[in-house]
Amino acid sequence: MSETAKITLQGQSYEFPVVTGTENEKAIDISKLRDQTGYITLDTGFKNTGATASQITFLDGEQGILKYRGYKIEELAEKSSFLEVAYLLIYGDLPTKDGLDKFQKRINKHTVIHEDMKKFFDAFPYTAHPMGQLASLVSSLSAFSPESFNTDASKEDNDLVVIKLLAKMPTIVSWIYKGALGRPFIYPKSKNDYITNFMHMTFGKVTEDVEFDPVVLDALDKLLILHADHEQNCSTSTVRIVGSSGANLYASISAGISALWGPSHGGANQAVIEMLEHIKNDGGDTEKWINKAKDKNDEFRLMGFGHRVYKNFDPRAKIIKKACDNVLEKLGINDPVLEIAKKLEEAALHDPYFVERKLYPNVDFYSGIIYRALGFPTEMFTVLFALGRLPGWIAQWLELRYNQEPIGRPRQVYTGKTERNYVDLDKR
Ligand code: ACO
Repeated sequence: MSETAKITLQGQSYEFPVVTGTENEKAIDISKLRDQTGYITLDTGFKNTGATASQITFLDGEQGILKYRGYKIEELAEKSSFLEVAYLLIYGDLPTKDGLDKFQKRINKHTVIHEDMKKFFDAFPYTAHPMGQLASLVSSLSAFSPESFNTDASKEDNDLVVIKLLAKMPTIVSWIYKGALGRPFIYPKSKNDYITNFMHMTFGKVTEDVEFDPVVLDALDKLLILHADHEQNCSTSTVRIVGSSGANLYASISAGISALWGPSHGGANQAVIEMLEHIKNDGGDTEKWINKAKDKNDEFRLMGFGHRVYKNFDPRAKIIKKACDNVLEKLGINDPVLEIAKKLEEAALHDPYFVERKLYPNVDFYSGIIYRALGFPTEMFTVLFALGRLPGWIAQWLELRYNQEPIGRPRQVYTGKTERNYVDLDKR
């Protein structure tokens, strides 16, 4: 017999079906709750609300498990490339060698952005934050691809919109970096792979080919894989909810970029490095800062610590910590903030405040140290996160579209004033 959940309201019982996922996750399907009872559920921050049933990413926060389309993150980070993972997320299976070659070639055909878009880069002041620029530039891609507005587009037409976005994103990110420095833009090269092309446009030379250290290319590839999807997080939920109104892919991803920017989400990678620098310049007393993080009268939080769903450890943080040691050692870099990060982690992992609240380092705790070692300025860190998250956002947007999910529209419990009589302006 199928499992049900019984809810008793004012002495009357109602039964609701229980839905079980392929990894045995259970959910009570309350989609008919209001129709049958007149009640809604209240769940601020969606801590217990499943917004969709998805086939893309599985995450078990208690056990620290993360899988994309059934493949463990540890295995993907070790064996695959970012482009393979992008293909996996978007199309559902790992590509064959031939399939991957074709995917790369299709992407390389669209890496150049419309020359008119250069004017947008020129118009931003040097002080403009890269995330604000990225959100605007990705949204403005829709102006150059009006076919993206078609809500009834065939899979082939949608696929072209997807390929264009995957292809142009590294160009946009690199040019944001170049624009901030006031240096000439470097055009993509069709012979390069995805990561090399990005590095070529960011740190290469206009006049000649630069050979990049494989350690650097591997580290960036791995970081992007680790960020590629994370089921229904804040930015992905934003992409899905914007997409549910019928908004085009570029507008939906632009909204996701804005959501990612906040320091409680992707913006944490910038905030972590700023915090570590601050602690270093303050004398490096980690105990003082641990105590500040524990003090409820102090606004300070240990950035890069804690997660809404991981309550044991973040598997991505484990891989990144190892990669961080490896990259710094191979590149011969001695970054003093790494020592501070390790001391903070060590202290927090043994401190009852953090242990009781199950607060562990998240993906952002060590990623910034790697980005810095690769030569990126702090303000670019969250943009790199967005570059990595792009295939996940795309896969989630496509899933929503093909499943014809309804427009996202939560309800509320109203707690404001009840009806009042209007008082004329001269009588108030
Ligand atoms: N430092 C100190 N205390 C913390 C921290 C922290 N980083 N994170 C949570 N806590 C405490 C809270 O004060 C709260 O304590 P209380 O129960 O005594 O009131 C308890 O732990 C639970 O925290 P919540 O804020 O309720 O947890 P929530 O799931 O809503 O928030 C979040 C998760 C936003 C990630 C939070 O842990 C945080 O702000 N961390 C720092 C920012 C960060 O690193 N964000 C990146 C997340 S990963 C990502 O999005 C890519």
